[in-house]
This record gives sequence, C-alpha cells and structure tokens, in this order.
Amino acid sequence: MDHSVLDIKKIRADFPILNRRVNGHPLVYLDNAATSQTPQQVIDTIVDYYSTYNANIHRGVHSLSQEATNRYEESRKIIQKHINAEKLHEIIFTSGTTHGINIIANGFSEILGAKDEIIVSAMEHHSNIVPWQMLCEKTGSTLRVLPMDVEGNLMLDDFEALLNTNTKLVLIDHISNALGTINPIKRIIDLAHTHGAAVLVDGAQSCPHIIPDMQDLDVDFYVISGHKMCGPTGIGVLYGKEKWLDQLPPYQGGGEMISEVTFEKTTYAELPHKFEAGTPNVCGAIAFGAAVDYMNSIGFDKISAYENQLLEYATNALDAIDGIRIYGRAAAKAAVISFNIEGIHPYDIGTILDKLGIAVRTGHHCAQPIMDFYNIPGTIRVSFAFYNTFEEIDRFIEGLKKAKSMLS
Ligand code: ALA
Repeated sequence: MDHSVLDIKKIRADFPILNRRVNGHPLVYLDNAATSQTPQQVIDTIVDYYSTYNANIHRGVHSLSQEATNRYEESRKIIQKHINAEKLHEIIFTSGTTHGINIIANGFSEILGAKDEIIVSAMEHHSNIVPWQMLCEKTGSTLRVLPMDVEGNLMLDDFEALLNTNTKLVLIDHISNALGTINPIKRIIDLAHTHGAAVLVDGAQSCPHIIPDMQDLDVDFYVISGHKMCGPTGIGVLYGKEKWLDQLPPYQGGGEMISEVTFEKTTYAELPHKFEAGTPNVCGAIAFGAAVDYMNSIGFDKISAYENQLLEYATNALDAIDGIRIYGRAAAKAAVISFNIEGIHPYDIGTILDKLGIAVRTGHHCAQPIMDFYNIPGTIRVSFAFYNTFEEIDRFIEGLKKAKSMLS
C-alpha cells in the first residue's frame, strides 16, 4: 500500500497535543469522531484574536470592533465558499450541529400540524432524533423511521414507501457517527423533493472527511460543527436555503437579531442576523474559518484517500482477531469502526486501552436506537483523522490484544 499520499510527519508537527504522553505512553488519539485535535495555525488564530482585536461585532465604530466584524464576516465567506452555498446569508453561525438542528426544529414546530409526517433515519445521533420528538409532541405530527439493514445501509425501498403527500421533512445523517456509513444523501434528497418534503442533513461526521456541495446536493438544511474539523468547540454552521430561512421564525430573541424594537412591536433583522441573537462566538467563528483553510491547505481528496487506507488497514487487522464483531459494513464507509469482542464489556477494553495511552470511545455513542437494533449495550469505537498513522493502528491492535487476553 502506498502510504505517501500525505506528508504525515509535517502534518503531525502542526498538532502540539500529539506530542503528549498519557499514562506514561505516547498518546494515540483515535476518538476523532467525538472531537478532532487542533493545529497550531488555529491555536494561533485564537491567541491572536484575544491578544490583538477582541471586541464585540456589528456594534462599535471603533477600530477593534470593525476588525473583529471583518474577520467574523470573512469567516462566513470562507465557509460559504467551502460548502458552495449560493448566498452568503444562507450561512448561520451556531454553537454546533445540535444548535443548528434545534433552530430548524423550533421553526418547523410553528408550521407543522397533526396531519404532517416527518421521517428520521434509524441511524441518527440523538441530536437528530430528540428535537423532532419534541416537535411531534408539540404539533401532533407523526415521526416515522427509515430502517437500516444489518450491514448498516439505509433501506431505500422502504424510504419510497414511507414518503407520501403528508411528509414534510426528512432528517438524515450524511455519515453515521456510530457505524461510519456514508449515506446516499443525494438520492434521498431527490426522492424527498419529488414528494414535496424538505431535507435536513446532519453533516457533523461528514465535514471532517469530505466537502459537501450545497448547490449540487440541493439540500434544504445542512448542519456542521467546527470542533470535528480542527476548529474549536462551541461553534458550528447551519446552512439553510434562503426561501426556508426567510419563512422560519427566529429561534432566540435578543440583540443583533432585530431591525426595530418598541414595546408594541419588534421587527426582525435580515438574514443571517435573524438567527444570530446575542453576542456570537466571535473568536470561534474566526478560528473555524482558519480550520477550514487549514484542512483545505492539506486537501480533502488527499485526506479522504489517506483515511480510507487507515480504515482498510485497521479493518483487516481487527478482522484477524478472534471473537471480534464489527458493526457497520457498508460499502461506502468513512474512517470509523465500531466493534465488540465477544464476552467482554466495551468499557473494560476502553479503560485498559487508556492505561496504554490509547484514546477510543466506548458506549452507545449517542445513538441508542442503533445499539438496540444490534441488541448490544454499546461498542468500542475507533475513528481516524488524517494525522493518525499506521504505526498508531499497530499500537492500538497490540493494546487490544493485550486487553483481550487480560479480560478473557
Ligand atoms: N457525536 C460525537 C460522537 O459521536 C460526540 O462521539
């Protein structure tokens, strides 16, 4: 296998945290689907913001405020260009994917009624299930579930059968955080649109690996988190088609989102400010832009190609161990592997791996319906980023074998 697609040594030098030791061992960080690590370029952007131009935005005539406003709005443009949104004001800064989904769920709870139906896939993260259950409780609308098969593929024939003239919304993750499946969202969006339903795609797990194209997908809403793609926590983006964002009510009232306020009546600001009440995460938004620039400087084609190699290498190594069951065998898969070892609780494996400096995630991964589907309490999950190495996978496999022999 040709491993030279990325200059991995140079890339790793950008991430100071990768030099640290954990429990006496060099860190092997394989929990990237939970949060990615932060390169020095993004850390420098954060330090620069607080050291030289920290100010509130869109408010002051003073230089610092104007500088901060320009950088914040520049970052909006970076993200618009990155995901190929048609209009700049279709990019709303949020605190993360969950916030973006709740903005849309809140908006639709004002316009849906008892006759309406919404479809959620069987492999959603809780953040793309619970807000819709709350909406259904409020509106009386019906939540339907698009099932998946045992390999972790959505069953598209069933999707066509679920769609009808009452279907108003379809909620789907682009990549499953627990299984790694890359869902055929373009086909799903096309089918939903044929039946007049809007589609929200949870892109939290896709944006670290691929570039979604808003215009090509023709998606209605797409939500992402900065911290999954080398940015800081507490910042994300909601993309929404202008026609929808204009129609939906604001999520929060406050400063920044208004046009005029009197005690009799308030009028709302234009997009995107209508959905950005209060002082936003100015530094986070600017650093998110820096993170997107950083990842683009490496190149998403190279990132995907390299991560696919890591995925294949790790999958083959895991398959060679007795008693391993991998959950999620879709043909189109991102660099996420969920698995269990027969007779051993995932938590025990995770704890031993941590003692060896290896960070993995164990549990239900905020996707309990998937665990129920397989009738398991949880899994061990390893998720790779472009700064991981084949040697790190070797260390993980070695640690796993050690944990297995200790616990068997
Ligand atoms: N959603 C994140 C994960 O999958 C936290 O780990």
